[in-house]
Amino acid sequence: MSAPSATTAGIPRHVAIIMDGNGRWAARRRRPRMIGHRAGARAVNLCIDFCLERGVAALTLFAFSSENWGRPADEVGALMKLFLNALDREVAELHRRGVRVRFIGERGRFDAGIVARMDAAEALTAGNRRLTLAIAASYGGRQDIAAAARALAVEVAEGRLRPADIDEAAIARHVALSDLPPPDLFIRTGGDVRISNFLLWQLAYTELWFTDVLWPDLDRATLQQALDDFASRERRFGLTGDQVAAATPPETA
Ligand code: FPP
Repeated sequence: MSAPSATTAGIPRHVAIIMDGNGRWAARRRRPRMIGHRAGARAVNLCIDFCLERGVAALTLFAFSSENWGRPADEVGALMKLFLNALDREVAELHRRGVRVRFIGERGRFDAGIVARMDAAEALTAGNRRLTLAIAASYGGRQDIAAAARALAVEVAEGRLRPADIDEAAIARHVALSDLPPPDLFIRTGGDVRISNFLLWQLAYTELWFTDVLWPDLDRATLQQALDDFASRERRFGLTGDQVAAATPPETA
């Protein structure tokens, strides 16, 4: 992972989103929760369109947390089917539009059919550069950091790394999305004001933005509001406002 990122013309380079509120959206219509998730999938498309239009370089979506496996079996099964259908339906079009698709999280917990489609989507779109779409699936921030610690422990055990050389940069190299700038802007829909074990390491200096809008109700105006608010913020990365004003974008935390 590179240093905290500066913004270009007020547009965040990397946006990370917790897409919350599908269940409540359905409950308000007295419909099954899955109807909310299906409507949520449509909002995903709108969000990708918006990022492509605005020139956002990377979009990370929290689709399924490591904790979501604990939901009722019928909801988990239906969500898996939805992911499978979305992969079958959308990947060719994403490829056509220059989107690089990738997945972060414990891929091995998914059925072989889903894993095969994830692998195929990544392979097909690997050369695309217009937008990187990272889908967090069976992902947890603590698990991500634990995996990085394990990888570093292996390097130490094999004599390739000294414990004294384990620093922030070493951990940053091993957590998910290490090749992307960290998120500039985090958005959570659905009214809750928490991070819920999303990109814990990567969000250290991210600007946080919360809205009561339920994910399936997402529209361009809401996303634009988030971008406008982001553009108005002064990012100091631990420095003083005067230092930031005097300097070019900071390179260190
Ligand atoms: C949280 O809402 C949402 C999820 C756990 C699933 C997210 C899935 C989608 C948006 C659908 C498709 C996604 C892709 C990438 C194709 P919730 O169920 O926790 O809502 P609630 O808090 O109102 O119950």
